[in-house]
Amino acid sequence: MKHLIDPTDLSKQEIDQIIALAEDIIAHRERYQGSMAHKKLATLFYEPSTRTRLSFTAAMMELGGQVLGFSTPQSSSAAKGESVQDTVRVVGCFADIIAMRHPIEGAPLVASEVSRVPIINAGDGSHSHPTQTLTDLLTIKRELGHIDDITIGFCGDLRFGRTVHSLIKALSRYHGIKVVLIAPDELRLPDYIKQDVCEKMGVEYRETDSLDDAIPELDVLYMTRVQKERFLDEDEFDRVKDSFVLDARRMSLAKEKMAVLHPLPRVNEILTEVDEDPRAAYFRQVENGKLVRMALIISLMEWKNDPAHKMPEHEAPIINPALHCTNAKCICNNEKHQPRFRLAENGITRCWYCDSKVR
Ligand code: CP
Repeated sequence: MKHLIDPTDLSKQEIDQIIALAEDIIAHRERYQGSMAHKKLATLFYEPSTRTRLSFTAAMMELGGQVLGFSTPQSSSAAKGESVQDTVRVVGCFADIIAMRHPIEGAPLVASEVSRVPIINAGDGSHSHPTQTLTDLLTIKRELGHIDDITIGFCGDLRFGRTVHSLIKALSRYHGIKVVLIAPDELRLPDYIKQDVCEKMGVEYRETDSLDDAIPELDVLYMTRVQKERFLDEDEFDRVKDSFVLDARRMSLAKEKMAVLHPLPRVNEILTEVDEDPRAAYFRQVENGKLVRMALIISLMEWKNDPAHKMPEHEAPIINPALHCTNAKCICNNEKHQPRFRLAENGITRCWYCDSKVR
């Protein structure tokens, strides 16, 4: 069974196949209408969403399938204490494929361990958002004509921005990627992405707190919102919330062909005066989200019983009762799941579910 929990669950070949299928859908929309007739997608959203949930819904409807699900945990039996695993066991009786968003990191992973239908991670806490990554890759391809050999600047909340973590993981498999990390100290990219992804995969990266200095060299500027909902300390949020604002003056420093991406929603980090700039690609990016999710649904349904599309094999997890995950928002600290760990780069032990450090 093929699930999509982390971008690395897809080989580069599979990612390219999904993007190529999305491009074929764009060119021949009529060929795919009805391809999911009599199939059902369940959208289990334990956290707010506009784009991801509605684009999954629109994608399945456009393919001729049907959609069921919930948009808040309060309207499901999660409110009565039902576990994530029990919920997907139940929903797997009603649906052929499930997209799940959850504020607890690792929730879609434990769901996939018991599910009889493919699980798609539609965002878990600050950890991962692989379908946004497919959206971003398709957008880069359509805006620039290629994904290889680009310099991409990630700006804003690189600490909690799950879309940033996932996109860097995926881009690390492409050729000639240079990454500029533009963030204040408090919002820097987590070490596990720098060490386990950039350094391991040989991705050239540098860190700066100056968007003005970085912008002239970028082919893609990936802006992000400072994620208020992830901060445990409101004063810390207030200190960093207005760190970077993209405006017409800053756009004047950029390349003529630079593409501005943002997973959205935005708050104040891109002024509306930028929206009419032809380089502002973030609303085109939204439409690409629906198209690439159509391609993903078709692919996962086709690959369901195909041994050529298995989940990647990992080393067996480390089980050690003396170790604890340090992340209060990890599934192993919120439901009864045996703590599991993996040995990462530089001999660091990390949580199996959420990649956090252990103590
Ligand atoms: N980009 C994104 O995940 O948006 P939503 O939170 O609205 O789904």
